[in-house]
Amino acid sequence: MGLDELPLREDLRGRTPYGAPQLPQALQLNVNENPHGPSPALVAALQRAVGEVAGTLNRYPDREAVALRTDLAAYLTSRTEVPLGVERLWAANGSNEVLQQVLQAFGGPGRTALGFEPSYSMHPLLATGTGTAWAAERRAADFTLSVDDAVAAVERHRPAVVFLTTPNNPTGTATGLDVVDAVCAASSGVVVVDEAYAEFSALPSAVTLLDRHPRLLVSRTMSKAFALAGARLGYLAASADVVDALRLVRLPYHLSALTQAAARTALAHSGELLGTVEAVKGQRDRMVHGIRGLGLDVVPTEANFLLFGRFRDPAAVWRSLLDAGVLVRDVSTGPGLSGWLRVNAGTPDETTAFLDALAAVAPTTTSEEPKGSAQ
Ligand SMILES: Cc1ncc(COP(=O)(O)O)c(C=O)c1O
Repeated sequence: MGLDELPLREDLRGRTPYGAPQLPQALQLNVNENPHGPSPALVAALQRAVGEVAGTLNRYPDREAVALRTDLAAYLTSRTEVPLGVERLWAANGSNEVLQQVLQAFGGPGRTALGFEPSYSMHPLLATGTGTAWAAERRAADFTLSVDDAVAAVERHRPAVVFLTTPNNPTGTATGLDVVDAVCAASSGVVVVDEAYAEFSALPSAVTLLDRHPRLLVSRTMSKAFALAGARLGYLAASADVVDALRLVRLPYHLSALTQAAARTALAHSGELLGTVEAVKGQRDRMVHGIRGLGLDVVPTEANFLLFGRFRDPAAVWRSLLDAGVLVRDVSTGPGLSGWLRVNAGTPDETTAFLDALAAVAPTTTSEEPKGSAQ
């Protein structure tokens, strides 16, 4: 029986699942992970923490994940100087799950979520999955987002949920707090600032606006700067009322005891883990320099990845890089992304391998179109 014969929801017919290729034989520079694995000391600490929990796995975990949320609140306070307590922190299995819960609680049938594209491709997928209509507005040609354009879009669509991603994936573009502030003031729904890559950016966090806007939600993840993508831990800071709303839709015991223990251990080693951020940014800057040296364009980035191009045939460049053993992301079929590819910073060796592979394929493949015409 094929998918067509299943009694699938009509709005899911013809859709494709999220699916960045997983090709372990190549250098993995395609899903914006941190290339640095945990140190032997952290591996030992994780083994101890997980070992302690292992003996209690006959019991459900702490449904409220109080200790973990307390640690996350302390971490965010240490980064932003905004006093936050456990009641204003929420956590789930990756920020994708956090965002899904936000849409379950504040979106849904008859409601609209608004995003500014190109942006994170999961936002519209999560909207669809929760029966929320998706309204897409375009960023400017240089991928920035102005106060006026953002506010006009909010007034046009009157969305129940607005997504602002900063730094934005896949462009790396940062959005200033003036935009967040104005969008919050113009919105009657909730405003989600997706700060998955915040630790790589010098700009202040939207967490600093939380006290001013009760319907502002700031989501974060341990998958990127924290180098913990495999553990699946995302979190959100908001008002205590928003956190109570998310409790209405979460599954009971959604965060396993193993996840909670691993995430708490990583947080206790945050100095070491975040110590990789400068190294990652250094390799990103090396990439920017090297790619521009080949006569290609790079979009200014505040994240651990960058958009480069533009290529006449990005799929062919993607294939050539893969043939050379380097896996990057072909985002070129996304809205406003024609001709662009995305790559994330790797280790020094990975960065060298990428730049060497690109030098071998790039000169013959650039787009004829004038610079800055990205649409
Ligand atoms: C902008 C953005 N938000 C959220 C996520 C989800 O991350 P995770 O579910 O691993 O926390 C990603 C992952 O790439 C992302 O790029």
